[in-house]
Amino acid sequence: MATTLTWLGHGCWLLHSGQHAILIDPFLDDSPAAPVKSDQVEADYLLISHGHADHVSDAAKIAKRTGATVISNFEICQWLAGQGVEHALAHNLGGGSDHPWGRVKLTLAFHSSSLPDGAYGGNPCGFLLTLSEGKTIYFACDTGLFYDMKLIGAAGIDLAVLPIGDLFTMGPDDSIEAIELLHPKRVVPSHYDTWPPIAQDAAAWAARVKAETSAEPIVIKPGEKIAL
Ligand code: NI
Ligand code: MN
Repeated sequence: MATTLTWLGHGCWLLHSGQHAILIDPFLDDSPAAPVKSDQVEADYLLISHGHADHVSDAAKIAKRTGATVISNFEICQWLAGQGVEHALAHNLGGGSDHPWGRVKLTLAFHSSSLPDGAYGGNPCGFLLTLSEGKTIYFACDTGLFYDMKLIGAAGIDLAVLPIGDLFTMGPDDSIEAIELLHPKRVVPSHYDTWPPIAQDAAAWAARVKAETSAEPIVIKPGEKIAL
């Protein structure tokens, strides 16, 4: 089966690889940008980058309905277990694990991570996925620019998913710097246009990526997918 990555709006992505559906940072029911609701999405793995509501608010209900295994930091896994989630595999930064679809490693992210009820959400992270079918995908998730992206890029990244919304994460200018450090073959923007304060001109961003970096920019709308 082909490997595809579908944007479900904001920072939510659905990766299909082989028979597996891996859902990243589900934010569907309260997202003005989501093309589907949380009861319509399939997943056998759920990756949660940090505790903010626009990343975790649908996680427990999707995990309980689908039986998906949650991959996140220790604190978020504990918090979800407290809401009845049965399968959660706690990680910490720099640690990874192997799965039938490939390997996931938790990477640094410069952000914060309080949970919606005020509980401590541990450290925020990004995800580096090395798929069994051969491709490497980096989800920066919510983060500012940091120089250690150069180390993450040493893995050889086929596709980088980078925030460009500004305000809560890096904006377009710093995303160009991030691309220089990561050297991905392709790059797709995330975490923008959900609400007016993080609106961005993605076409203008793509033109800058083409002119200023060696990466190929891909701009899609929520509900659309990329073939890997
Ligand atoms: Ni956040
Ligand atoms: Mn966010």
